[in-house]
Amino acid sequence: MILRLLALALSTVFIYEAVGEPIHPRDSFSAKIEKQNKIALQGVLNNFGPKGSQAPGASAGIIIASPSTVDPNYYYTWTRDAALTMRMIVDEFTHGKNELRSYIQDYLKAQAILQTVSNPSGALSSGRGLGEPKFYSNITRFNGDWGRPQRDGPALRATALITYANWLLDTRKSSGAREAAEKVWPVVQNDLNYVAQYWNSTGFDLWEEVSGSSFFTVAAQHRALVEGSALAKQLGQSSTAYDSQATNLLCFLQAFWNGKYAVANINTQSGFSRAGIDSNTVLTSIASFDPEAPCDDVTFQPCSSKALLNLKAYVDAFRTIYTINKNTPNASAVATGRYPEDVYYGGNPWYLTTLAVAEQLYDAVQQWSSLNSLTISDTDLPFWQTVYPSAEPGTYEPGSDFSKLLDAVLDYADGFVKIALKYTPSSGALAEQFSRENGTAVSARDLTWSYASFVTMRAARLSATSNYPQIGSWGASSVSAPSGTCSASSSPGVYKPAIAAGAPPDAGGCTILMTFNVNASTYFGENVYLSGNTTDLGAWRPADALPGRADQYTEQRPLWTFEVELPQGKAVQYRYVRKEEDGEYVFESRNRTVEVPFCTSTEGGNDKVVEDSWVGPVGTQG
Ligand code: NOJ
Ligand code: NOJ
Repeated sequence: MILRLLALALSTVFIYEAVGEPIHPRDSFSAKIEKQNKIALQGVLNNFGPKGSQAPGASAGIIIASPSTVDPNYYYTWTRDAALTMRMIVDEFTHGKNELRSYIQDYLKAQAILQTVSNPSGALSSGRGLGEPKFYSNITRFNGDWGRPQRDGPALRATALITYANWLLDTRKSSGAREAAEKVWPVVQNDLNYVAQYWNSTGFDLWEEVSGSSFFTVAAQHRALVEGSALAKQLGQSSTAYDSQATNLLCFLQAFWNGKYAVANINTQSGFSRAGIDSNTVLTSIASFDPEAPCDDVTFQPCSSKALLNLKAYVDAFRTIYTINKNTPNASAVATGRYPEDVYYGGNPWYLTTLAVAEQLYDAVQQWSSLNSLTISDTDLPFWQTVYPSAEPGTYEPGSDFSKLLDAVLDYADGFVKIALKYTPSSGALAEQFSRENGTAVSARDLTWSYASFVTMRAARLSATSNYPQIGSWGASSVSAPSGTCSASSSPGVYKPAIAAGAPPDAGGCTILMTFNVNASTYFGENVYLSGNTTDLGAWRPADALPGRADQYTEQRPLWTFEVELPQGKAVQYRYVRKEEDGEYVFESRNRTVEVPFCTSTEGGNDKVVEDSWVGPVGTQG
């Protein structure tokens, strides 16, 4: 009887749905998104130390990039990946997932420790060490060759933690104010000081390949200083340096626009040539999104004319290069990758870049909806003609074609999500890339950033299509457009271990920037490293020795150079070591000793140069 009633009830529901309002096609799609979203959030937590099922050995609060240990080995924590992931976690937490609080607190502590770990980019006392891109999952330095420094990391970490600090201040009154001031701020302050001091120096881009100035990095730095300045004021801290460098950064950010799109990297190393169309810029737009901002070009808001035209240029660059995009009509969504010239693992589409396109569009819809108005300009008309062929320049408000235009954008955005889902295996696992030929998973498996990008896309979509709460504002609408010529300056900062947050109290001592020059004739393919009795020099383990630079090597002067920050007053033993083409190591025949001087001034200028010539066996080619 009960069963029959149930059956009746079910069929009633079914009939009601069948004859009642037609089920919007978006509903079943939304259900798929919800399902994948759960998998994605769990995928992130699996990669989160110490308890994550895929992250054995990772310290508490450390987020590994992927559990993959070979081809590629991503069993490290990247400051960028971890910070972008933490921003997602903070947003999910403030939207009601209370169980995420402990992950945020663990992250904060891990970052406080990590900031003090000296590394090949430098140490904490000079700030330089904050620009190191990645560390081992047990919070120790990685000495191998790498594209370093990468200056987006500190800015992105500051943004993630500022979002948390703002929540503490808004909702937790005095206990929250204390946690924000005593624990969060000291970590954030180091990162903001780093940005204010080093923003105007070149570094490697987010793809770790190009040395120069990256659009993504500059925008992330600008945002961090703007919201960091507001937090500083709220906590009674000085914000002068942040305000003045934020102005300079925003001015500089305008230099990347070429009339059609934002060029991903400028001031690049000589010999670099690429058109500059790059997901870097779409990721910039979603990282700069402020739900309270108008469609502002200057901060590259998702609904701004520049960011929309840029999105079109970016997406179009992938329409014909991937086999899986062939036969797709010109106005539909396609799979996209980092940049069209990419060859890494064959240069395939990435989940996080394809989803970023959707996210930018969902963010834009939120903005137009809040503004209750949408303007199609001559600049962004080409974008509009893709999503709505009969689009014409003009301003649209509810009652006119406004909702049709928004619907068209939503459909277009959904198309990118559908592509990501189409090429997601039934388990829901998200690797880094999917094959340009057939859509199967390529490169690192279970990439944390891929999962995080799904969760942020889903939240943006919900905010665009329902009353799901929007993410917080960072103050984009309060910045004023730059005028006049840009000024490039720097505000030297002071860096201290964030002890109350968990940094070791004895860390962060004064260091000296040491330059070791050694004349060592090498054959092409043979490289010179610096090995020694401190962890800074790899503790005599050849695989952890510091890689040298040979950019000034000539026949007359076969110069290999090493730069390393060493603790003041320390007596260090070292030898140079050659790494042969076949991977074998050849050490110099005796130990050398150097006394690191004491810091005499905290303003820098203590640097020391050591001049050596190779002593010992010489390698032979082949
Ligand atoms: C080259 C890739 O293009 C880059 O993005 C990656 O991080 C490094 N190799 C290390 O795997
Ligand atoms: C390679 C990507 O290019 C880089 O952005 C990322 O940080 C690392 N992989 C780790 O995921």
